[in-house]
Amino acid sequence: MNEENSGDPIGRLQELVLQGRPAARASLSAVRDARAAGPGPETEALRTAYLDLLKLCLCDLAATTTMSVGPLPGGGAASRVLSGDQLRLRAAGMDWPLQGLTMTGLPRLDDLQSCVEAVVRDGVEGDLIEAGAWRGGASILMRATLDGLGAADRTVWVADSFAGFPKAQAEDKDLSGHDFLAVPLEEVKGNFARFGCEQGVRFVPGFFEETLPGLSDGRWAVVRLDGDTYEATWTALQFLYPGLSAGGYLIVDDYGALEECGRAVDEFRSHNGITEPLEEVDWTCKRWRRESRAPIEAPPPSAVPPAGDGSAPPNAVERSQGRGIPTVRELQLTRELAELRERLAAAEAEVGRLRSSPVRAAAARLRRARKG
Ligand SMILES: C[S@@+](CC[C@H](N)C(=O)[O-])C[C@H]1O[C@@H](n2cnc3c(N)ncnc32)[C@H](O)[C@@H]1O
Repeated sequence: MNEENSGDPIGRLQELVLQGRPAARASLSAVRDARAAGPGPETEALRTAYLDLLKLCLCDLAATTTMSVGPLPGGGAASRVLSGDQLRLRAAGMDWPLQGLTMTGLPRLDDLQSCVEAVVRDGVEGDLIEAGAWRGGASILMRATLDGLGAADRTVWVADSFAGFPKAQAEDKDLSGHDFLAVPLEEVKGNFARFGCEQGVRFVPGFFEETLPGLSDGRWAVVRLDGDTYEATWTALQFLYPGLSAGGYLIVDDYGALEECGRAVDEFRSHNGITEPLEEVDWTCKRWRRESRAPIEAPPPSAVPPAGDGSAPPNAVERSQGRGIPTVRELQLTRELAELRERLAAAEAEVGRLRSSPVRAAAARLRRARKG
């Protein structure tokens, strides 16, 4: 970690993302501008302008500044404003937005839109699903893209615990401590409703290990995986990939950012003889388009994944509701206040000590004697 960034969680997060990742650095400097196509009178121009504007709103990039959240070295998180050139971090999908509805960034959203357009255009059979939706932004874009194309016959499935990450199993970093990543179902439903995208959406609340086996006979045109961990990725691939139509897309958000996620994908592909090329979407996201019609067996619901014991659903974590994310400035002021309180307490103790000292007592006696 860069010493200068130790008090700045966003700088620290940026360091963590960029360190040793030349592809991420290149993505950051090459990321497209955060701007929307303006409207035109043609239906297609209006559709493009609407989706461009929607993507900016979902990323919270429509205003001049935005707030970003980063983890603190000792646990917890703090937020601060991103402005000017720092907004590129958000556009590149390299930070956690305090208010935005997706952390994926513009290139991944552009690509997701084009995948949805391609499956509708090519008549690829099936619904669309995101496993790991957080506030729902990427899924809202899938629904909006379908609606703009009049593809109301397809459902968008939104799978998440809606309670954040479970306690980590053997292979994974423990992300369960981040309350910020736990977004309740009602809040996510509200996000869809605010954008008028609540029709044709099915929510799948619960841990993947419990819910996704029930979707193993689904037919999918787009499967978007964004559960970060080895376990979540492997489980979603196991139960969703067999139902992916030929011509459908399998998208993995965290392939490059999280080694264990990429490993789950590589192992699944090699285990099942999947040879369609992995295509790079940006510094972290990869996807492939399924060509093979060869069936892949969905395991029975009790099957054991190769990592972790897999025999029991992962543990939910107790969440303290209603705790906001302090800003970096608030944390700094809290620290200053604590220091001032300490100094005040020390000064009060000194005054007390002087008041009760023998010299002070003798002086008081002298004063009383003189008065008398
Ligand atoms: C990085 S966030 C997803 C980001 C989101 N796709 C976006 O557009 O910003 C990861 C999500 O995966 C969910 N998740 C992780 N592991 C899970 C599991 N085993 N079962 C269900 N949800 C899980 C978390 O609750 C969290 O909402």
